[in-house]
Amino acid sequence: MSKEIACKEEEGPLGKLIVVPKGLYNVVPDTTTISGVDPKGEHTIYRGYTIADIGEHADFYEAAHLFLYGKLPCEEEYKEIKKKIDTYRAQIPEKVLDALRYVPKTHPMYYGAYGVTLLGQYYGTDWRFDDDFLYEHALRLIAQLPVIFTAGWHLANEGTIIRPDPNLSHGKDVLRMIVGRMPSDLEARAFESTLVLYMDHGFNASTFTVRVIASTLSDMYSAIAGGIGALKGPLHGGANERALKMLLDAKARAEAAGKPLEEYIEEYILEKLAKKERIMGFGHRVYKIHDPRTDVAAKFIKQLKDGEWWLKVMKKAEEVMWREKKLPANIDFYTGVLYYQLGIPVPMFTPIFAMGRIVGWTTHYIEQVKNNRLIRPTEKYVGPTGLKYEPMEVRCKK
Ligand code: ACO
Repeated sequence: MSKEIACKEEEGPLGKLIVVPKGLYNVVPDTTTISGVDPKGEHTIYRGYTIADIGEHADFYEAAHLFLYGKLPCEEEYKEIKKKIDTYRAQIPEKVLDALRYVPKTHPMYYGAYGVTLLGQYYGTDWRFDDDFLYEHALRLIAQLPVIFTAGWHLANEGTIIRPDPNLSHGKDVLRMIVGRMPSDLEARAFESTLVLYMDHGFNASTFTVRVIASTLSDMYSAIAGGIGALKGPLHGGANERALKMLLDAKARAEAAGKPLEEYIEEYILEKLAKKERIMGFGHRVYKIHDPRTDVAAKFIKQLKDGEWWLKVMKKAEEVMWREKKLPANIDFYTGVLYYQLGIPVPMFTPIFAMGRIVGWTTHYIEQVKNNRLIRPTEKYVGPTGLKYEPMEVRCKK
């Protein structure tokens, strides 16, 4: 199927209409100083630094500071942001957590959207746009979203909540709350690095959703709830769990066939492609050659359980996908494996994406409202015209 990639101009009632490609392919709706995605994957930028540099070296607090305030923190700034995030993490209203007891057991992404909306009912009703107010709410959301997800997950599965510990670093504490045990320093660092790699990525679908909601001057909580909804989809954040499920399915089939997965993965992928199925964790709207986030994740995968073997399997899958479809692996292919190595339950993979991306979402919310114009495109109606209302007894007799 060929896809339209050029803009067209047409006359409209308010002047020239610009008809853009479906899916807003290659369309630039605004400028940003937060991050920029390089199609070749070499110069994807986080506030001036490469994503690989920050993803590999910065901790959660440093990266969050870089996004929110535009610079890596010095000692006092670091202490302050750390204190705020750690304190907020432990201060979530008990009634918000309690409410999660009464919702059905569903995909945990729902707990995030629901819990954030509840937080909004506590903190977001008299909304303002001054800096101090916006930054405090951003930090509160960054700190508390992981607590909502993990509380919802454990309440649904074991009926209990694993409480945050403000004395642990954010990444380590969040991983502890997910897996229910104290992670090693290496595990915590690997996990934290994925949160940083997920923090932001230009005008991706969920961030753009946040910016659209921000542009209506709605509150930050409502905007984040929308972002979580967009991220949940399998073409966006939902891909990390599906990528891992696919690898586990391939592993089970390889075992049944008595073949090593690193060999069997080729026939598995070819079979799926022949059935016109998408291979989750491959392809990207902007990256057409390489996703630089995968290099950083690979360094940590290598150091974790069965790392060398997983990388061998993944490299084979990438070789096949490049040969067959010219599609590179994306970050979700890598984080799926890394989270499996850490023993994280698969339904929590996409919520973890949100626990990182919340930093980008809140920063984009602030950038949008500080220089706002309502985001409201115009449609091109192509349906029928000229129909006239007829009462039911007339229209249904025809
Ligand atoms: N497996 C097989 N074929 C694919 C894949 C894939 N993973 N991705 C794209 N294609 C094919 C499509 O079938 C399409 O072929 P066609 O033109 O013959 O129909 C062609 O490549 C272009 O695909 P589009 O969907 O038009 O490309 P787009 O840029 O709109 O989509 C997307 C990008 C949605 C990420 C796509 O590559 C995909 O579905 N990937 C799998 C899901 C995934 O991994 N998502 C995570 C994205 S990264 C992130 O959110 C962190």
